[in-house]
Amino acid sequence: MPGSSENPCSPDLPPETSKPNAPMIQLDGVSKKFGDLPAVCDTTFSIGRGETVGLVGSDGAGKTTLLRMVAGMILPSEGRIYVGGLDAVGQRARVKELIGYMPQRFGLYPDLSVRENLDFFMDIFSIYGQERVRRRQRYLGFSNLLPFEDRRAGDLSGGMKQKLGLACVLVHQPQLLILDEPTNGVDPVSRQEFWDILAQMHADGMTIFVSTAYLDEGEKCDRLMLMHNGRTLASGTPAQIQAGFGNLEEAMIHRILAADSTLAEEHFGN
Ligand SMILES: Nc1ncnc2c1ncn2[C@@H]1O[C@H](COP(=O)(O)OP(=O)(O)OP(=O)(O)O)[C@@H](O)[C@H]1O
Ligand SMILES: [Mg+2]
Repeated sequence: MPGSSENPCSPDLPPETSKPNAPMIQLDGVSKKFGDLPAVCDTTFSIGRGETVGLVGSDGAGKTTLLRMVAGMILPSEGRIYVGGLDAVGQRARVKELIGYMPQRFGLYPDLSVRENLDFFMDIFSIYGQERVRRRQRYLGFSNLLPFEDRRAGDLSGGMKQKLGLACVLVHQPQLLILDEPTNGVDPVSRQEFWDILAQMHADGMTIFVSTAYLDEGEKCDRLMLMHNGRTLASGTPAQIQAGFGNLEEAMIHRILAADSTLAEEHFGN
């Protein structure tokens, strides 16, 4: 079994890095139910190393639930999830080291400064001394926040907060970034700036799995996964998904309406 369970009593094991030839994410028949509600249904999908994959779909489609399962925040009801070839459930602690996860509502400490928020995350990962100084320069520089390092996080603009959130989840130098609607409600210029940072990370080889409600952002991804009612309706490059339609939005709406009418026929025989 590829995902043999780790021994939590053996903290001295050498840190296991991911298996270099394995996909960064592999989902095999993954489902999640909340009570009777199937939030994610029988999803099989693979994301290669260095890919940027966008997760798009309707409200309540199951995007957050899927991302939370990959990030190890909740367990699947069925199926297996591998991150870098490691079992996301059985080897959860090691898998978490590979991942930088920015939830839909990322919590910064509003009364702490930009620098103090970043330092808080470096405390969690025991990054001290010269290395702490180096990473602070790198990630605050990367996100153009160095001039604002003494500003209270609560006084930052929406776009700056999101960039600080990104810097915080990067400090432990993950291999996989999982971002849940990171630019929601952010103005277009700041969204562009945020995606310029993602493009730079992509060029450096980072794997990025990002949900978004903005289809101009979807177009920037290598591949897209379209979800509706817990199911994957389509996956492929933006051009493949859009083929035969005027734009990505039309293609998505068409697929979602077609899925709804199929469901209605199954239920009511219309
Ligand atoms: N902890 C939970 N308990 C019960 N139901 C949940 C829970 N989390 C999510 N759900 C339900 O599961 C379904 C999928 O929710 P999810 O948040 O994953 O969708 P989403 O695609 O991220 O939606 P949005 O675009 O609004 O963020 C919804 O019907 C939601 O109400
Ligand atoms: Mg969501």
